[in-house]
Amino acid sequence: MITVAKKKSGKGFILIGITGSIAAYRACEIIASLRKAGYCLQALMTKEASHFVTPLTLQTLTENEVVQDMFQPPAEWDPLHTSLADKADLILIAPATANIIGKLASGIVDDIITCTVFATKAPVLLAPAMNDNMYKNKITQANIRKLKEAGYKFVGPIKGHLACGRAGEGHIADTAAIVKAARQLIT
Ligand SMILES: Cc1cc2nc3c(=O)[nH]c(=O)nc-3n(C[C@H](O)[C@H](O)[C@H](O)COP(=O)(O)O)c2cc1C
Repeated sequence: MITVAKKKSGKGFILIGITGSIAAYRACEIIASLRKAGYCLQALMTKEASHFVTPLTLQTLTENEVVQDMFQPPAEWDPLHTSLADKADLILIAPATANIIGKLASGIVDDIITCTVFATKAPVLLAPAMNDNMYKNKITQANIRKLKEAGYKFVGPIKGHLACGRAGEGHIADTAAIVKAARQLIT
């Protein structure tokens, strides 16, 4: 049974979505920084994200249960994705894969992150991380444009070292830049 976190401080409640990127470990730093700044966080992760970072790590850093499967019975009667969506002051997807960007831009909502994003009225901030060719791909660029037009916010990516071994645009933004962008979106 999964419990939706209770806000434990006067600051905002942030849902952090983690997807299957080599940059998933950076979510740990982002969570630690936002926790230090006083925010309450709960992590949502895709199945693929668990190849890169463990739920146990995210649970320990957020001090809340990690939601991986929206079909797990919630502790209360209401579906997980809608109760999470209602509670969130911000949904931050960091790192955001080409895949999750593509799914959101196409209206495909078949996992806990995409369902929660589509059900929320909170601002949504994405920190893309991917290979430079994946990032420059015309479909990815069109998907990002479409999401920006729909009001989704982006931070990064920047030029930097990529998992493929070369440098290029696609490296996840600096933690400080992601934290700053997140804090600016919470009113
Ligand atoms: C070692 C490795 C690193 C990867 N890194 C990235 C990445 O940084 N960005 C990305 O878009 N996809 C990356 N992928 C591919 C994604 O894991 C794949 O598209 C996956 O289906 C994404 O699922 P998700 O968006 O549901 O988490 C990587 C795959 C592997 C094997």
